[in-house]
Amino acid sequence: TKIHILNGPNLNLLGERQPEIYGHDTLADIEARAQAQCDALGMELTFAQTNSEGGLVDLIQAARAQKAAIIINAGAYTHTSVAVLDALSACDGLFIVELHLSSPHRREAFRHKSYVALAADAVIAGFGADGYRLAVEAVAARVAR
Ligand code: DQA
Repeated sequence: TKIHILNGPNLNLLGERQPEIYGHDTLADIEARAQAQCDALGMELTFAQTNSEGGLVDLIQAARAQKAAIIINAGAYTHTSVAVLDALSACDGLFIVELHLSSPHRREAFRHKSYVALAADAVIAGFGADGYRLAVEAVAARVAR
């Protein structure tokens, strides 16, 4: 089973960026743990980050081409990007999890709207970096059924 974990803008700054909101783990820490988890589960992981909207569309299309399950933390593009939504909507039959470290609903009103949610099968938010582990576990359980 293939699984793509896709990260959008500013997530390359995890660990330094507003740690009171996003925690102290870096994206490299998260990637290393996800890789170990996927190895143990016998799942093939692709882990990527981009700061650009078109880059995120390209990463979604690559997951689509590989028929991979998608875990996506689209960062701020979650709340703005019809292009990201359209790319996800083109991934017919792929299991898609929307992921956030923080819980957007307890934050500013502009974070309450999610375009990604319109294409996602499930949402995990508010668990910090641990959300990545929970999302992989959920995908593994779902895809194995
Ligand atoms: C985020 C929440 C978004 O609102 C924000 O723009 C981010 C990170 C999260 O993981 O909590 O960049 O997706």
